[in-house]
Amino acid sequence: MTPIAERPPENTGTPATDGSRPPVTRRALLRRAGLGAAAVLVVGTGAIGYRAYDNGVFSAGTGMAYDPWRSWQDHRGTPLGMVAAAILAANAHNAQAWIFRVSDLRIDLYADRSRGTGALDPFRREMLVSLGCAIENCVIAGEEGGLQSTVTLRPDDARPLHVARLDLRRAAAATPGLYAQIPERHSSRDAFEVGRAVPAGALRSMAALGEGDLDEVRVVWFADDAGRRRVGDLMAAATEAVVADRDQARENDVWFRQDWDEVQRLRDGLTIDASGLSDLVAALAKVLPAQSDASLDAAWVTGMRERQIGTAAAFGIVTVPDAGDDIQRLRGGRALQRIHLWATREGIALQHMNQLTERADRERELGIAPRFTDALRTLVPAGREALVAFRVGYAKDAPVASPRRALESVVPA
Ligand SMILES: Cc1cc2nc3c(=O)[nH]c(=O)nc-3n(C[C@H](O)[C@H](O)[C@H](O)COP(=O)(O)O)c2cc1C
Repeated sequence: MTPIAERPPENTGTPATDGSRPPVTRRALLRRAGLGAAAVLVVGTGAIGYRAYDNGVFSAGTGMAYDPWRSWQDHRGTPLGMVAAAILAANAHNAQAWIFRVSDLRIDLYADRSRGTGALDPFRREMLVSLGCAIENCVIAGEEGGLQSTVTLRPDDARPLHVARLDLRRAAAATPGLYAQIPERHSSRDAFEVGRAVPAGALRSMAALGEGDLDEVRVVWFADDAGRRRVGDLMAAATEAVVADRDQARENDVWFRQDWDEVQRLRDGLTIDASGLSDLVAALAKVLPAQSDASLDAAWVTGMRERQIGTAAAFGIVTVPDAGDDIQRLRGGRALQRIHLWATREGIALQHMNQLTERADRERELGIAPRFTDALRTLVPAGREALVAFRVGYAKDAPVASPRRALESVVPA
């Protein structure tokens, strides 16, 4: 089978204009602030009131960029309604690299290569997992609305961008299952409650969601002190390596949306509001001036270590036999989305955390020492490969929605 990922990506959203890492821009500042640098910010003396308005400080989660979360049931019980659910799925960097073709009883899903995330995903691992997440939402919404899906992954070997075909047939509407969680699920980047463990039974139930018809997919948990420390230290080291890699750091910036206008215009990417800051710090992050590159990088890693890694109740790694196989990536994505929806129903917060695999893929791309590739191997059982990772726990505050492009933008006429 021709992997979708053989060629490096040629388009990365909103590319930088030259080949160098940009100076510290407000975008870089805010992206990093969102990941924990707020402590190093200093209050500027400018017209903060005006900038607060300009940057949408008082309007988090409102506006057309968030409409898809409100209108997703408008086409309930139809193939278009299934797509409306699909686009609410988790997806790497919120790049929304999907295109859907919809007919009476069929949905075809294509990868949108123009929305790749460059050096962060050189072999399109995350893109395929994200498309798997979208398929899962699609299937769940169909079942609830009386449309049963037969899913064929990578239906045409000659067309690697055609990642799935869903043949639909009318059936009795199924019990809602995880349907109600589709608009409730969000990525949780805030600090979790320290010392509150996720019950072993819940971890087992989440792992079981990868089995059954998705087979191949398993979850390895790191829930005790030693396991969390081991994975957490590696994640922090991988984050430092991402920061130190000019192209990966720049790509992170490319997908960071810094103000209200940008969020409403592009309707994708990561926002300050979804970064897990307190309301006050998020508001400050929108209006404060830039810091030096080095202090921001250091603060990002420190913040991540303290707020995200340090408060995780457990880390999960999704494994498959071959993480380079497109079909297994898609199945892994389906399982991941199901796990996230299930966790949402149980009040368990989840944040995807993928610096480790991003570094492993980068090592392969550049042919450099396999530091994180080797480290990942030690974390998973023999015969399995790490696909993606995440943390779970109990959030203090409910996570907020991130923007989505309109249905019409992803379903060409
Ligand atoms: C394959 C994959 C990788 C991701 N990696 C990360 C990550 O490393 N860090 C993070 O904070 N979020 C990560 N995410 C979460 C996305 O950024 C998130 O799903 C997206 O911004 C949309 O937001 P939502 O999940 O709240 O709808 C990942 C999601 C997927 C599906």
